[in-house]
Amino acid sequence: MEAKKLAGEKAVEYVEDGMLLGLGTGSTVYWSILKLGELVKKGLNIRCVPTSINTEKLAVELGIPLVKLSDIDQLDLAIDGADEVDPNLQLIKGGGGALLREKMVASIARRFIVVVDDSKFVSELGKFPLPVEVVQFGWDITSKQIAELGGSSVLRTFNREPFITDNGNYILDCHFPTLDDPVRITSELNLIPGVVENGLFVNMADIVVIGGTNGVVDTKFRG
Ligand code: 5RP
Repeated sequence: MEAKKLAGEKAVEYVEDGMLLGLGTGSTVYWSILKLGELVKKGLNIRCVPTSINTEKLAVELGIPLVKLSDIDQLDLAIDGADEVDPNLQLIKGGGGALLREKMVASIARRFIVVVDDSKFVSELGKFPLPVEVVQFGWDITSKQIAELGGSSVLRTFNREPFITDNGNYILDCHFPTLDDPVRITSELNLIPGVVENGLFVNMADIVVIGGTNGVVDTKFRG
């Protein structure tokens, strides 16, 4: 079975009847959502908050009941993918551009489960560019302020136009010489006025489910 599918479906084993769930975005959590759709058809009672317009559409197609983030205080569980996971379970997310809603949803989940294939589990973060969501106004000034922190950034494009997030913002894909102090980088980035949020998810993941290309699933827990 495909590694992403293996991880995505395995994570659904943590879902219990009656739960409020956060649904992430991307091609790995897609498999979790598909599985949840099957279970809902068989009678599973869940209510979910989607982290993107794409995930919302998919959930609606599958008949998964949705609830607004504003109508709840806490989620039982959130399941989402990641672009990189390090051995301390720190994450880079936002390859799909949904990092702001993903982080908001994960931040109110009692348990945050991350689903990845084994190519995403790395010894140190930073080969994958760190996505930073910025407001459109003065984005190039924001890019210069990120450079003062040591990060070089590229404006993400789609069809030769700037990529626009579900929140109407731009994404700067950033490379830093090192991300070995993610707590410092995340706070410094978020102090820049034009930065809305960055894709470092620090001390947020509780469980990481890693699907192997060899067909074996490895599960890591926050220590
Ligand atoms: C979207 C994300 C995704 O979770 C991340 O990009 C991983 O996606 P995929 O499972 O398709 O590799 O952060 O903003």
